[in-house]
Amino acid sequence: MNIKINENFKNISQSYLFSEIARRVSAYSTANPDASIIRLGIGDVTRPLTPSVCAAMQKAVDEMRKPETFRGYSPDYGYDFIREAVARHYAENGITVDPNEIFVSDGAKSDLGNIVDILGDNEILIPDPVYPVYVDSNVMSGHKVSYLPATAENGFLPMPEGLDGEGYVIYMCSPNNPTGAVYSAEALAEWIAFARRTGSLIIFDSAYEAFISGDLPHSIYAVEGARECAIEICSLSKTAGFTGTRCAWTVVPSELEASGLKLRAMWERRQATKFNGVPYIVQRAAEAALSPEGQKECMENVRYYMENARIISEMLKNKGIFFTGGTSSPYIWLKCTDGMSSWEFFDYLLEKANVVGTPGAGFGACGEGFFRLTSFGTKEATAEAVARLEKLL
Ligand code: MLT
Repeated sequence: MNIKINENFKNISQSYLFSEIARRVSAYSTANPDASIIRLGIGDVTRPLTPSVCAAMQKAVDEMRKPETFRGYSPDYGYDFIREAVARHYAENGITVDPNEIFVSDGAKSDLGNIVDILGDNEILIPDPVYPVYVDSNVMSGHKVSYLPATAENGFLPMPEGLDGEGYVIYMCSPNNPTGAVYSAEALAEWIAFARRTGSLIIFDSAYEAFISGDLPHSIYAVEGARECAIEICSLSKTAGFTGTRCAWTVVPSELEASGLKLRAMWERRQATKFNGVPYIVQRAAEAALSPEGQKECMENVRYYMENARIISEMLKNKGIFFTGGTSSPYIWLKCTDGMSSWEFFDYLLEKANVVGTPGAGFGACGEGFFRLTSFGTKEATAEAVARLEKLL
């Protein structure tokens, strides 16, 4: 063909991390059809949708069945009822967000990937290791990415020391995927002060906030000054089991402005042009998940997963294997044994224990030599995986 393509695609790895894992697992299972494989790789939930979520969906289906209550296109940014439910959710934690600053979408992954549409060619700061979507979407757009090493030495929480530029776009994920490290209010205050001093924007991914235990911020807006420098993206995927149902939101405070344009208005324009909204049925389900009853049910599921995290952590502790996460995060981030590389360890666990995890190198160069296990499996599968790993490691 004679068309020009986006040449930046030559600069990203050929396949997305979790697609590559799926490909390798599928090849292994085709070659070993009797292997009973336990998947603790991608963070996909196993608890079903909760009763109040299902009831709300069923009610919405009934409305869609009748001409007088049928709904067509949803408003591009979400129905008022869901934007208000999200605002109430923040208010319950003492945070004021206007419903008009909340944009409901089909997932945090989409928003994290799409947000680059409203940003120019800035220097991008991304923690390493981290969820690969931040890097991939910026590389696809030809942006210059600099990495903030997250290592055992800095508790997997990089800080702004040593950064002397300005106008950065800074990605943060807290609790971090994959390390499970969570920023304290003091550390976030430091980042916020840095962002405001240097005219930088923070993109804060709080998808795992429901897993936080103890007195740590669930939202960057819990810390003063964040409205002047941060966009927050949150999701119901892990909290309410919506990985297949799809609903998330992005908060763009009206204070954010650059080059004479409000970022909120830009995101509004972007979404109105390229997105047609989340299905009504799903928005009703999300509203139910955010109701007091829904939250109670969601937290029961969070506790279920955190019990899995506990039994994985116990096994690693008993084995003397270094790990982090698993207390305020559904992920356990461990050092590969016997000096194996992440992908060697992946193959080793797959072949010798039929357990699938995620190689740390897939989250960035600093993830090499590490491995991620998820606690989103069923209780039974997790116990079986732990028993196999106990024997193998
Ligand atoms: C993960 O395993 O890191 C997540 O499930 C991926 C995602 O949320 O897209």
